[in-house]
Amino acid sequence: MRKPLIAGNWKMNNTCAQAVGLIEELKKGHWGDEVEVAVCPPFTALRDVKQALGNSPIRLGAQNVYCEDAGAFTGEVSVPMLKELGVELVILGHSERRNVFGETDGLVNKKAAKVLKSGMVPILCVGETLEEREQDKTQDVVRRQIVQDLNGLTGEEIEKMVIAYEPIWAIGTGRSATAAEADRVIGYIRGILEDLTDGRLAQTIRILYGGSVKPGNAEALFEMPHIDGALVGGASLKANEFLGIIKYAAGKEIG
Ligand code: 13P
Repeated sequence: MRKPLIAGNWKMNNTCAQAVGLIEELKKGHWGDEVEVAVCPPFTALRDVKQALGNSPIRLGAQNVYCEDAGAFTGEVSVPMLKELGVELVILGHSERRNVFGETDGLVNKKAAKVLKSGMVPILCVGETLEEREQDKTQDVVRRQIVQDLNGLTGEEIEKMVIAYEPIWAIGTGRSATAAEADRVIGYIRGILEDLTDGRLAQTIRILYGGSVKPGNAEALFEMPHIDGALVGGASLKANEFLGIIKYAAGKEIG
């Protein structure tokens, strides 16, 4: 059985004071055990958010990490630093990291191995550009990313990960993939994982959709058999919208 996950990627938004305000609003929401919820604030707000969460079931995630423990890596943050703050999940390979900051699949692979060894859960993002989509290359692109980003990891390690399919043309554009389109690609990704693991594992790995998820399209997305939740950008910055999305994931049993 796969438990749906709704994770908020706040990106470069929210000062510490704003972050704490948003957490206080989110804590007013109610949902059951059937859905897991996480927020991924900027590094600077992690400690305050952890404190504001108190005994809330909301889990703490980070948006990135470097693949070395310490050293001369100006501007980077390491796995032990995140663990010390109570971080449990780490977004890796987000398209903004790949496209704005030039992260390669090789680097994402090193980061994934490092995060898994630490016991934190990587949320690995993959997805195609509009141009690639129009050239019918979506499957080639996500296969290349998955195969390279997971290179050398064992089936048991891969099973602990979360994958997020985020078509780049749908991120921050208001133009979500249709539920059927997203489900088709996510089903294809599940097939790749089946090839890479022993088949059984592919049914246990959670695969999220990300890209303009809002309360208005969440229900249709979560009704699809392969979609195990969402990685939410813009709508995760507004408590009522994020809670609205969580509501549609609660009660969904998958697998
Ligand atoms: P939006 O929900 O703002 O489209 O962002 C999606 C995203 O990039 C989540 O990681």
